[in-house]
Amino acid sequence: MGWSSWNHFGEHVTDADVRSAAAALIRTGMKDAGYLYVNVDDTWQGTRDARGVLHPNDRFPDMKALADYIHSKGLKFGIYSSPGAKTCAGYEGSFGHEEQDARMYAAWGVDFLKYDLCSFEDNMRKAQSEHPQDPLAGVKLMIAAYQKMGDALRSSGRPMVYSLCQYGIADPWKWGAAVGASMWRTTDDIDDSYGRITMIGFSQAGLSKYAGPGHWNDPDMLEIGNGKMTEEEYKAHMSLWVLLAAPLIAGNNLSQMSETDRRILANPEVIAIDQDSLGRQGERLAQSGDLDVWTKPLNGDRVAIGFFNRSWESRDAVLDLGDIGFSDGADLRDVWERRDLGHHQGAFATTIPSHGVRLFVVSRSRASVTDRGSDERPKQK
Ligand code: GLA
Repeated sequence: MGWSSWNHFGEHVTDADVRSAAAALIRTGMKDAGYLYVNVDDTWQGTRDARGVLHPNDRFPDMKALADYIHSKGLKFGIYSSPGAKTCAGYEGSFGHEEQDARMYAAWGVDFLKYDLCSFEDNMRKAQSEHPQDPLAGVKLMIAAYQKMGDALRSSGRPMVYSLCQYGIADPWKWGAAVGASMWRTTDDIDDSYGRITMIGFSQAGLSKYAGPGHWNDPDMLEIGNGKMTEEEYKAHMSLWVLLAAPLIAGNNLSQMSETDRRILANPEVIAIDQDSLGRQGERLAQSGDLDVWTKPLNGDRVAIGFFNRSWESRDAVLDLGDIGFSDGADLRDVWERRDLGHHQGAFATTIPSHGVRLFVVSRSRASVTDRGSDERPKQK
């Protein structure tokens, strides 16, 4: 969990913006809610000197000092590069300088590296055209490039979270952990729209078996607070990401965050679903028209369940608790409302607002356990 500069600041990010974000994480309670990483995305890079050492550009006067500031707040510092010669925004990548860059990150005190394919796709196309008989020539080159930086980070001597960003090309969930990564993007870029977050979120069906503690599917950074979706839509975005056990990387301007956005991003019960100790990614339970229902197993024999409504009108849905393993009934809690709904058995009906979500935690019912206990008592003679 953390924050990244890209979704809000893009190519204009400065050292001051990143420091303000770190300070805001503390001030707003986001750090206490679990957001620890402060990640500078693309466009911090300047040029390499005669010895190949990459210097930051003039918007980042001193990376070590920035890292020290972030660490002084009890936070962690993330940075960004590419296996290609250039990053997506056309800045200096790590191609040919992987070990040198990894050593420099370690010396600065970097805790996280996002490694973004970008111009390395040119290298892949070239390899492919040189080896037309091998349909995987480009893919093999890409995996080798990710392995190379994974090895360089490992031998740098500083533990860093290694985050792959190559938009899901060639199923990184199958080889990401082997190159040393803790997370890998599964899709192309997110944007601040309901269409995009639902397209990305619901396309994650089938990927849950590849996620678990220390190795996560990453459906991209959050857009909550960037202003183009409604409160209901942002709640749907957050709910979908926590059901997916996704890395939660906020992407808004934390210094000017509204209370509404803060309550969505820092909601402790919602975050607890994402961070549950089982580390299980949720899956689609059912889909019908504009309704999508997802469940995520939680510790303590509990299940989180989210009902999503993509239509322009509110919709009713009915869930049979037996279908998610609670044929003896269950206790339900409405997570966003922070309200216990008591014991339910069999069918449970709910209404989902347009573009909204209803998010529940379902647990083995205390009432049903007591009932069963009384049944099992020896009959009185
Ligand atoms: C790619 C990535 C984004 C962001 C930009 C930066 O598009 O997918 O997340 O890092 O590059 O240029």
